[in-house]
Amino acid sequence: MDIKHLLTQTFHQAMLAAGIDDPNPVIRQSQRPEFGHYQANGVMGAAKRMQTNPRALADLIVKHLPAQDHYTLEIAGPGFINITLTPAFVSQLISNGDPAEKPDNTAPRRVVVDYSSPNLAKEMHIGHLRSTVIGDTVVRVLEHTGQTAIRANHVGDWGAQFGSLLAYLDESANNETAQTAELADLEKFYQSASKKFKNDTAFAEKARGYVVRLQSGDPALKKLWEIFIQTSMDHGQKVYDKLNITLTQQDAMPESRYNNDLMPLVSDLTENGLLEESEGALCVFLDEFKGKNDRPLPAMVQKSDGGFPYLATDLAALRYRHNELKADEVLYVVGASQQLHLRQVIAVARAAEFIPETLITKHLAFGLVLKADGTPFKTRDGADVKLIDVLNEAIDRATDLLQQRSQDLSPDEHEAIAKVIGIGAIKYAELQKNRTTDYMFDWATMLSFEGNTAPYLQYAYTRIRSLFRRAGIEHLDPTTPIVLTAPQELALGLKTLQFNEAIANYLEDYQANILCNYLYELAGLFMSFYEHCPILTETETRQTSRLRLCDITARTLRTGLDLLGIDTVERM
Ligand code: ARG
Repeated sequence: MDIKHLLTQTFHQAMLAAGIDDPNPVIRQSQRPEFGHYQANGVMGAAKRMQTNPRALADLIVKHLPAQDHYTLEIAGPGFINITLTPAFVSQLISNGDPAEKPDNTAPRRVVVDYSSPNLAKEMHIGHLRSTVIGDTVVRVLEHTGQTAIRANHVGDWGAQFGSLLAYLDESANNETAQTAELADLEKFYQSASKKFKNDTAFAEKARGYVVRLQSGDPALKKLWEIFIQTSMDHGQKVYDKLNITLTQQDAMPESRYNNDLMPLVSDLTENGLLEESEGALCVFLDEFKGKNDRPLPAMVQKSDGGFPYLATDLAALRYRHNELKADEVLYVVGASQQLHLRQVIAVARAAEFIPETLITKHLAFGLVLKADGTPFKTRDGADVKLIDVLNEAIDRATDLLQQRSQDLSPDEHEAIAKVIGIGAIKYAELQKNRTTDYMFDWATMLSFEGNTAPYLQYAYTRIRSLFRRAGIEHLDPTTPIVLTAPQELALGLKTLQFNEAIANYLEDYQANILCNYLYELAGLFMSFYEHCPILTETETRQTSRLRLCDITARTLRTGLDLLGIDTVERM
């Protein structure tokens, strides 16, 4: 149990005893040291309801709090209660258990997380970084808190673009070996196919014919399509593995999976009376969606040529998530530019009662990745920057950096550590920003060992590990109590106890910067503890007490970084 919960319960009891109905203590961490460690801010609201003096009410509540040496209290301002925890209490809490331990969850919820979801008609590029990294943190944290996270990689593997890709593949290679060879350089393949589509009208015509053949289930084309999709998926998996992303091919729930659900979707919407014909297409018009000049905005479910647009597949997917995956909650980790689309999908699904009211849906939107100069992240000729190239560059840069810092690593160690630093830097730089705004991709900042960066946190971790190596200690007596005396020690101990509060705050709106800031502060407090509090020169019980605190700090750092999908190393 975290401190906030503990205080909430105690204050709840005291407020009841003070005659307050249905009290809410509103316990918060204090923002300034002079306000104590925590504050109970709920007294003013209660006093208002009861039409009584808030300071007098605060007094009464304090009288009803059990007499104990856990904290000192101070009534401040119009009726805040400032709570300062005693070193003895914090010492006792921290001695009793590991704050970074996975909490029990007796009522897990099933949460579908739609993330990464690249379109397979293109190689993964920088634009896929955010959804992939943000979404992977979401599933990791959900699983850490005991929820059931269902990874849904809604890959685009169907639709018009595949016509030209398949036509091109068919033309350029006439057997499976040749096709595999042709796809070896995926990016080149995509570019040649799209160039031909643009410049050669006969080919474009042929490509359109291929779409129709594919959609009508032509077996030869289906086979070709499968080869293509598999190659593309294998490429994506390489990116995921390099980026330390937990997605596997089993998590792919591609658009094509819903092909057979689309006709029933149309007939159900027709039966519901929601579909209207508009310029040959079948659309749903809902009052809440208005376009220019207040004109009704359609949500198109079937195109005039009979094809199904993006929205139809998403509706079928949402239905599937409810009916088959039994989701309690569906989270869409998708760029902010698709906000209208997702609002329409969800609104239509609700209007049609495809999903129950109790099903929670959330769009975790994010902005763009920009270059350090604020321009879009593109290559010089305006093409998308391939994600795999960015990852390799990160690792190369980390390799150089490590070369300058640490000379005594074996080549194998060097390689492994550079990978952990390079990949960690990219992910952390992404997660440490508010997800809803655009963010600037800047190598120098993300790879710095100073400031709020992954290398800084990874380094803090290795410092603790090297302390244990130097002391030659592998096992600490878990029954030796942790006694927090120095202020730096108390501050660090308290911080480790607040790990689960940081996670709870993160879960409110899935803003990973909350977790990042927590870890950054934790590492900072460790650094100042380490500077001020001697360890190896202390008596044995004090040494063990401080080493236990170091160990808890290291484990909290490691668990926290792991939730962000970032690895740690023993030395660097
Ligand atoms: N494939 C889409 C794209 O590349 C993203 C899919 C997001 N998920 C969804 N259910 N629509 O833009």
